[in-house]
Amino acid sequence: MLIKSARFAVSSPEVKNCPKPVFPEYAFIGRSNVGKSSLINMLVQHKGMAKTSSTPGKTQLINHFIVNDNWYLVDLPGYGYAKTSKAKSEAFGQMIADYIAHRENLLNVFVLIDSRLPMQKADESFFMWLGENHVPFSIVFTKADKSGSSTLNSNLANYRKKLLDYWEELPPIFITSVINQSGREELLNSIEEMNKDFKAY
Ligand code: GTP
Ligand code: MG
Repeated sequence: MLIKSARFAVSSPEVKNCPKPVFPEYAFIGRSNVGKSSLINMLVQHKGMAKTSSTPGKTQLINHFIVNDNWYLVDLPGYGYAKTSKAKSEAFGQMIADYIAHRENLLNVFVLIDSRLPMQKADESFFMWLGENHVPFSIVFTKADKSGSSTLNSNLANYRKKLLDYWEELPPIFITSVINQSGREELLNSIEEMNKDFKAY
């Protein structure tokens, strides 16, 4: 898919403040610092659009970006970030849960996973929650440039094995790096396909 335009639309503290659900929407979720904001910027080739930081906890609201004037990318706060106060990190959890459960135009959740790490508890619980709530999702491995191919392959194999303990079929899996610009075409193609399924209401 060709990206003709991409710009920030709005930041919302709650799902009720989000833009009207008239366009298909895709959310990027994962542990703090996994690379959500960086990946969104890579998709649209616009470096400063979503705010990134080497310090976890940068993104704190539901951020909508409008692409090609007809679909939304959504950057969410990370989960599982221990350094925020407990009350605050639970609020993040609630914000994300409410958003996913109530956002009617959300077609797919892209769950980002650091390709250097084996499955973390926070990710496992999040996958379970998505499954229980019948939320369609894909898995995006990030920072592939930082993980050697043997680590990447063994982490991938472990993920597949663990997921197949709970699901009959694997979700779509993408491997990305913003340094190498890899995985971009694949992600955009997948979004383009899903856009076709969207019925405005
Ligand atoms: P929060 O908003 O804090 O939850 O973080 P985030 O998931 O949005 O992560 P962000 O995009 O801000 O990136 C975190 C750090 O990882 C930054 O220092 C990025 O430059 C770095 N980073 C992101 N993607 C990649 C990648 O593919 N390769 C490498 N080497 N670094 C990356
Ligand atoms: Mg971020």
